[in-house]
Amino acid sequence: MHCEPIKSQFGARVTGLGPVIDLTEAEFLELRHAFELYSVLVLPDQPMDDNQQIAFSERFGPLERTISSNPAGGTAFARQSNIDIKTGQAIPPDDHRMMYQKANMLWHADSTFKATQSLCSILSAREVPEEGGATEFASTCSVYERLSKSEQAELGHLEVKHDIIYSRQIVGFEFTQKQREEMPPVRHPLVQTNPVTGRKSLLIGAHAKCIVGWPFEKGRALLDRLESMAIEPDNTFSHSWKTGDLIVWDNRSALHRATPYDTVKYRRLMQRTTVSLAVNS
Ligand code: OGA
Ligand code: MN
Repeated sequence: MHCEPIKSQFGARVTGLGPVIDLTEAEFLELRHAFELYSVLVLPDQPMDDNQQIAFSERFGPLERTISSNPAGGTAFARQSNIDIKTGQAIPPDDHRMMYQKANMLWHADSTFKATQSLCSILSAREVPEEGGATEFASTCSVYERLSKSEQAELGHLEVKHDIIYSRQIVGFEFTQKQREEMPPVRHPLVQTNPVTGRKSLLIGAHAKCIVGWPFEKGRALLDRLESMAIEPDNTFSHSWKTGDLIVWDNRSALHRATPYDTVKYRRLMQRTTVSLAVNS
């Protein structure tokens, strides 16, 4: 297995290990260790179908079920696509289903709004546009490491309220009372510690609404400042997809966002599985 770092200590392009769907246990453990070190693993040329993706993903831990607002809601997949799941035709840009895609363009980590956080997401490129539709990644470890010792200590005591109702309203979603009750805000420690490397990171991004016990605006100012540090160009990279690419990202230590593409001209189908932190830590 060859790991070529993308940024210093953030992101690696992994080659030379053959199809990941056939890894031995020893090979998988090597890949898993690289994931803990680099937060984002880019694995070119790893075509797979849904069943193979589920089998590979389950080696990281138990899979989440996707929330009902995704077209694949209720299954193990989150479908990031402009293609109607039933008809195979392109969804018109003004269709409400495309709002889900817009929400992905905010910097976020997946499932931080769930009571049980996610370990990682695994995104498989099934159909990609000829241009646009890249995915960008940012490290929150590097934010923590650039803070003063005293601020690191202060942040270590804080909890963040994560709320998908908050993040989705920003892009124009409206929710029924029932949906609100299904997805109440949750609290997570702001500072996360990787159990393998001991490196610390921050659980921020679009779903992070406020700091527990702080006035709303004061919490917003902190969360906005931390996010703006995370997305400084030195700290981010962009991946332009090819069909068959696979990316595994750590939802504890990396933010990501989708970027636009011409949804009328091109088809894009990405299948995501999301591994829960339930029995991992
Ligand atoms: C996701 C996501 C970004 C993209 O799958 O969680 O945010 O570029 N995807 O599709
Ligand atoms: Mn996402």
